[in-house]
Amino acid sequence: MYMRGKNILLSGGSRGLGLHLVERFLEGGNRVATFARSPTAAMTSLSERYGAAFHFEALDGVDEPRVKAMVRRVCDLFGTIDGLVNNAAIGQDELLVHTPPERIQQILAVNIAAPILLTRLVLKRMLIQEDHGSIVNITSICGSRGYAGLGAYAASKGALEAFTRAIAREVGEAGVRINNVAPGFFASEMSSVLLPEQMDVIRRRTPTGVLSNEQDVFVAVDLLLSRTANIQGQTVTVDGGITI
Ligand SMILES: NC(=O)c1ccc[n+]([C@@H]2O[C@H](COP(=O)([O-])OP(=O)(O)OC[C@H]3O[C@@H](n4cnc5c(N)ncnc54)[C@H](OP(=O)(O)O)[C@@H]3O)[C@@H](O)[C@H]2O)c1
Repeated sequence: MYMRGKNILLSGGSRGLGLHLVERFLEGGNRVATFARSPTAAMTSLSERYGAAFHFEALDGVDEPRVKAMVRRVCDLFGTIDGLVNNAAIGQDELLVHTPPERIQQILAVNIAAPILLTRLVLKRMLIQEDHGSIVNITSICGSRGYAGLGAYAASKGALEAFTRAIAREVGEAGVRINNVAPGFFASEMSSVLLPEQMDVIRRRTPTGVLSNEQDVFVAVDLLLSRTANIQGQTVTVDGGITI
């Protein structure tokens, strides 16, 4: 593990990939703050286990004033934010013509507007900190490959990758690293819409024969957050090779 003794803010840490990342970073001796709309039992048990090293708030990532207040609280509690992971997102499982306009607006608000606004808030802190920090955006192979039923979701993930490249130019010289990690399909509440037969097809088409999992994604996020390597504005794909 590369990240040790650092302060990390991660969106959507209440379950799925986000929860795995929170748990692994806490195990590595980092302090972690996260938020989601609803608390889960895991949030209570992590609070009991890690005390002041873990901070959870129930809020909607599209509510910018509340997110801003949380960023301020995290800085008061931890002192700095060394790593930001934009992980929270919502999925889609409907052809575009069947997707209600409100759902499309919601996908774009949660998956692209919210991470841009959170990045802006955290960057303001990172740029004036001594040891600037790094940002990892969780995108998806859907951001660069076409999958039916995921139109608005794919647009949001492709946009997030484009955002990362632009910001990498803006803040690179100031010492801030920003990159994407694009996972392939892995088991979670979001991907539970996929039938076991569909998961089997994905597995058969994967060159390694193994679906990526949350731990595979963690390895990439940990490396990029740690700033161990001179990697900037890139997308690291973690998918067992299905998109090659
Ligand atoms: N699962 C896959 O196959 C897959 C593949 C490629 C990429 N990804 C990406 O990996 C990341 C994690 O996905 P996952 O499968 O772990 O999803 P998940 O199990 O559905 O978890 C999503 C997390 O984000 C939170 N969240 C959603 N909307 C939010 C909002 N408006 N404000 C604050 N928090 C919000 C959720 O909590 P609440 O609902 O309580 O708010 C939850 O903690 C996402 O960026 C996803 O696009 C997933």
